[in-house]
Amino acid sequence: QARAQEGGSAFSFTEVEAGVDETHHVAEGYDADVLLRWGDAVLPDAPAFDPANQTADAQAKQFGYNNDYVGYIPLDGSDEHGLLVVNHEYTNPHLMFPGLVTIVEGEMTMNSLTKEQVDVELMAHGGTIVEIRKVDGKWQVVPDGQYNRRITAMTEMELTGPAAGHDRLKTNADQTGTKVLGTLNNCAGGVTPWGTYIMAEENFHGYFSGELTEDHPEFANYDRLGVPEGSYEWANFHDRFDIAKEPNEPNRFGYIVEVDPMDPTSVPKKRTALGRFKHEGAESIVNKDGRVVFYLGDDERFDYVYKFVTAGTYNPDDRAANMDLLDEGTLYVARFDESGSVEWMPLVHGEGPLTQENGFESQADIVIETRRAADLLGATKMDRPEDIEPNGTNGKVYVMLTNNTRREAEQVDAANPRAENAFGHIIEIAEADGDFAATTGTWEVLLQCGDPSVAEVGATFSTDTTVNGWFGMPDNCAIDSDGRLWVSTDGNNPSATGRTDGLWAVDTEGAARGTSKLFFRVPVGAEMCGPVFTPNAETLFLAVQHPGDGGDDWEGFGRVSYYEDPSTRWPDFDDSLPVRPSVVVVTRQGGGKIAV
Ligand code: FEO
Ligand code: CA
Ligand code: CA
Ligand code: CA
Repeated sequence: QARAQEGGSAFSFTEVEAGVDETHHVAEGYDADVLLRWGDAVLPDAPAFDPANQTADAQAKQFGYNNDYVGYIPLDGSDEHGLLVVNHEYTNPHLMFPGLVTIVEGEMTMNSLTKEQVDVELMAHGGTIVEIRKVDGKWQVVPDGQYNRRITAMTEMELTGPAAGHDRLKTNADQTGTKVLGTLNNCAGGVTPWGTYIMAEENFHGYFSGELTEDHPEFANYDRLGVPEGSYEWANFHDRFDIAKEPNEPNRFGYIVEVDPMDPTSVPKKRTALGRFKHEGAESIVNKDGRVVFYLGDDERFDYVYKFVTAGTYNPDDRAANMDLLDEGTLYVARFDESGSVEWMPLVHGEGPLTQENGFESQADIVIETRRAADLLGATKMDRPEDIEPNGTNGKVYVMLTNNTRREAEQVDAANPRAENAFGHIIEIAEADGDFAATTGTWEVLLQCGDPSVAEVGATFSTDTTVNGWFGMPDNCAIDSDGRLWVSTDGNNPSATGRTDGLWAVDTEGAARGTSKLFFRVPVGAEMCGPVFTPNAETLFLAVQHPGDGGDDWEGFGRVSYYEDPSTRWPDFDDSLPVRPSVVVVTRQGGGKIAV
C-alpha cells in the first residue's frame, strides 16, 4: 500500500484544508456531486419544489428534510444500480418557511407554525427509498423507480416483538397496541444482511407536549427520557402529541424500525425486542455461528451502549426466512470495566434485578423501560453513544462517543476518561474469540478527540496527524471494503475551532494507528452524516445535514441565519431558493476505490 509523503497516514489522498465557508470541499482528484436535495421529486407524480408555497401533499412525495443515515442496497448485486435509503431526522422551520422569522435588535423571534406548516414538517420526517443508477459515470435518481417511496410521520407501522399489544402501547386511536402512525427523529440506521432498511428513532421526546401528574404510572418512565420536551408545535394540531390527551403515545416511539424496501406497500415494523431509548443506529454483522449481532447506541449524556443478538440464524439463500429475525433474541447492555474488559449484561425478564419487585411484570416492561432496566444492572454511563460499527475485516467494533461536557471529575472512569469531555472519543472493542455474540470482550480507547496542539484538551491523535486532520465530536462512521474507518462529525463550531464538520479517514492498524486525515468538509452550519460506501468502495454517499443552521458567529457572516437571509444558499446558490440539506455522491476522477 502506498504511503503518503505527508503525515505517515496509510491514506495517500491529498488532505482537505480545515476551515469554514459557504460550500463543501472534497479532496483533490475526487468529484462530489449533489444527488438529492430537500424538495426533489421522489415519487413520479411529485410536483416541482416551490418552497414559498410548500404543501404537505407535495412534501409527502418529495425528498424530506435533514438527511441523516444513508444506506445503499444493491439491485442484482450491482455497485452501479441500487436503492438509496435515507433518514430524515428532523426539521428546521426557520430555514424551511418564508416569513416565519423576525429579527429585532439582533434577536430572532419566530411566529407560530400554521397547521399546513406543521403538516409539512410531519411529511418532511421519516425516510426516503429511491432507485439510483450510474449512467455515463454519473449517479442519478431513477424518477419512476418502482421502489421509490416516502415514509413520513403519518405512515402506518406495526409494533412487533415483546411489547406489541401491551396495554401501555394502547391509545384511543389504536386499542390493539400494535398500530402506530409514523416514525420520528430517525438519526442513523443500518441495512441488514437480508437487505432491509433500519431507521433508528432518536430524540422522540421533542415532539410531545402537555403534562402528566407525578402520580401517573408513566411519569417516571417519561421523565427518564425527557418526555415531553415540547420543542415542536405538533400537539397544537394533532392530539396524539399531547400526553395529557394521549398518555401512551410516547411509548410507541423510541424503537428500531425495519422497512422492506423491495415492497413499497410493506408496513414498516417497530421491533420492540431491541429496546426503547434514544436509538442512534443499528449496524450489524453476521456472526460466525450465523446469528446476527446489532450494535446500538443510546445518545444521551450518561446513557449506554447495547447490542442485540438474534435467536435465529441468517439464511443467505432464503430472504423471507430472515424477515422476522429481529423479533426474537437477547438485548445486552455494556459494562466497561477498569481492567479493560467489557461485560455484556442480558436484559432478560426474571434475571437479576429485572423482576416484578422492581416493577417489571414481563419482557414488555423491560423493553419499554430499557434505560431503567440497564440502570439496575449497573451499566457504564457513557459520553453520548452514537454510531457503533462492527468491522468484519479486523473483528473489532468501533463506538463513537460524541461528547459530554457535563461529566465531572469524580465521574471520570476508564471508558470515559475526560471530565467536561467537549470533543468526544472512540472506543474499540474486541469481542472474545472474535465472537460478536460473546458476552465478554476487551476494549481500549482508540482516540481521544480534539485539538492536539492544546495540551489541556488531552487529544491522542498520532503526531503524524496534521492541523487539518484532527476532529471533535465523532458521530457517524463507516467501514470501507478494506476495513478502514471513516468518521463523520457533528458539532465542530467554526468560531471555536476554525473548522466545520466533515469526514475524516482514520487509521486503526499498525504504526499509523490514531492518524487521521480530512477528506471532505461541509458548508457553514452543517453536520456531516451518512457516510456509506458501495460494496466495491468506489462510491461514497454523504449526507449534508442542516446546512446554514447557525454559523451565526462565523467571521464571514456574523448574524442569525434564516429562510430569507441564510448563512449559505448551498447547494443551489440561487437567491430564489433556500439552503437545502442534500445527499452528495463522491467518486474518484478516473474511477477506482475512494481510499488511496
Ligand atoms: Fe441524531 Fe445522535 O445524533
Ligand atoms: Ca447522529
Ligand atoms: Ca454507520
Ligand atoms: Ca449527533
